[in-house]
Amino acid sequence: MWSSRLMFIMAAAGSAVGLGNIWRFPYIAGENGGGAFVLVYLGCIFLIGVPIMASEILLGRAGRQSPINAMRDLVAHSNANPLWQAIGWMGALAGFMILSFYAVIAGWAMSYLFQMGSGAFTGADAAQATTAFDALTDDVGAVVGWHTLFMAMTIAIAARGVGAGLESTVKILMPALFFLLVVLVIYSAVTSGKFTAGLSFLFSFNIEKLTWNGVLMAMGQAFFTLSLGMGAIMAYGAYMPKDTSIISTAATIALLDTVVALMSGMVIFPLVFANGLETAEGPGLMFVTLPLAFGQMTGGAFFGAVFFLLVTFAAITSSISLVEPAIAWLIERLKTTRTKAALVVGGLAWLMGLGSAFSFNVWEDLHFVNGMTFFDLMDYVSNNILLPLGGVLIALFAGWGIDQQITRDQLAVSPGVYQIWRFVTRFIAPTAVFLVFLLAFF
Ligand code: PHE
Repeated sequence: MWSSRLMFIMAAAGSAVGLGNIWRFPYIAGENGGGAFVLVYLGCIFLIGVPIMASEILLGRAGRQSPINAMRDLVAHSNANPLWQAIGWMGALAGFMILSFYAVIAGWAMSYLFQMGSGAFTGADAAQATTAFDALTDDVGAVVGWHTLFMAMTIAIAARGVGAGLESTVKILMPALFFLLVVLVIYSAVTSGKFTAGLSFLFSFNIEKLTWNGVLMAMGQAFFTLSLGMGAIMAYGAYMPKDTSIISTAATIALLDTVVALMSGMVIFPLVFANGLETAEGPGLMFVTLPLAFGQMTGGAFFGAVFFLLVTFAAITSSISLVEPAIAWLIERLKTTRTKAALVVGGLAWLMGLGSAFSFNVWEDLHFVNGMTFFDLMDYVSNNILLPLGGVLIALFAGWGIDQQITRDQLAVSPGVYQIWRFVTRFIAPTAVFLVFLLAFF
């Protein structure tokens, strides 16, 4: 069990804050025209995300096991339809899919750590930064090597289990990451000369730029960034102390997560405009813009290396939560050790990840549906379909399926707040998600 409420918040925030905030949020917002996308995203975080996160934590804490087995027991206890157990299985699948590309991107960040540290970007201009990014992603050996190293680190930490590896790591790294982001925002504001342009891109409401697919992406990003809909938060909830308030904890985590995402946007977009780069640059956005900033800064090689080090750690505190549902289940099911379970889960995700590693080089021209590469497909299916779907099923189960007394006991809030939570999970969140699916796909 987590040693305190603060530790649970740290661990859950460690899961939530990751590449999703620093790498994915800016680039997806950039591809979808900024402002209106951001507003939909924020709406999804607080109206749908927080209540669903509360549901996920409560199911985990009521079940006190891996998500798959927690769901099995809660279903049995509540005499609910066994089909609800699909939530656990779907979540484990989404976890594999996400980790498979997550580790590749985290691998890029690790490579940047060393490139920054060696001074490779000192004084670099936009063209050089772009070339350096392409050179890395084209280099299959390097990409696979970093991917492998990141996965090995994930396995090693996950194998040590909650507490030993995790608490001590998150406690120091999260505040450090936050601090460096503040420094970068100030840097961007003072030196780029385009801070207002960046802010207005992020916050002015240009509805014409937003498509229904963009709305779906905003919703998917909300689930992804909060680690919702696949059991990660449920697995962590299983270790949460009994007397901790779930709803206020969920709100705190969402707030922290949002602040980090918005700060990343405030660092990146002014740099985009100051250097004549494209907002719709794609997955390379962070990797092209940030080295430019560090390249101009005094001591930039050092701060840049530290920054990418922290990004790597933020990614690890997320990746260990991606494997936790599957690992916890394997341990219970096969009565095996944590180490073996971590090796199996990490190994499988590593194998799938090769597909994403190849998507930027040898498999660049291999397209699945709609011109998507393997990486695009993993990302799209997991974030835009599996997570929202899993999240809605979690909400529906918490709202309709489970014995109501369990939710009352777990949430332990005033009747008014309880009714609001119940109304959102039963009606608002499911309707919103299905409506977005409908409008985006048809
Ligand atoms: N929330 C993490 C991030 O933003 C990614 C993640 C998704 C982690 C789902 C766990 C579960 O980087």
